[in-house]
Amino acid sequence: MKRIIAIVRPEKMESLKEALFACGVTGMTISQVSGCGNQHGWKEHFRGTEVLLNMVPKVKFEIVADDAAVTDIARTIQETARTGEVGDGKIFISPIEEVIRIRTGEAGTEAL
Ligand SMILES: Nc1ncnc2c1ncn2[C@@H]1O[C@H](COP(=O)(O)OP(=O)(O)OP(=O)(O)O)[C@@H](O)[C@H]1O
Ligand SMILES: [Mg+2]
Repeated sequence: MKRIIAIVRPEKMESLKEALFACGVTGMTISQVSGCGNQHGWKEHFRGTEVLLNMVPKVKFEIVADDAAVTDIARTIQETARTGEVGDGKIFISPIEEVIRIRTGEAGTEAL
């Protein structure tokens, strides 16, 4: 299993959520965050205006999925979240050792 973290533009939240459900993810966690990348937050556009902050609002998606689904999920995120402008975000992928569904005690991919 892998955890996919995607930091994206807030205006992409709804479309990305729908696209992820359409590609079969079973759950996701979404948080409002702020951050900066290469431009240190300067010269980035937020909802159409240039921001004068060095931390820019973003939305963080966390998805845990079976290894076999990761390529498809990463492609979906890229296709949905990309505008081509700086600040489109990033995808981080890392291993997950175990998942347990609290209600039933199921573990591993059965618990996803
Ligand atoms: N190396 C990093 N580690 C942790 N979070 C990061 C990192 N790079 C980017 N982020 C997060 O992703 C958000 C978007 O990053 P951003 O798309 O601006 O990256 P970038 O490398 O500057 O690429 P671009 O040149 O396309 O803007 C940041 O606001 C921050 O929250
Ligand atoms: Mg940037």
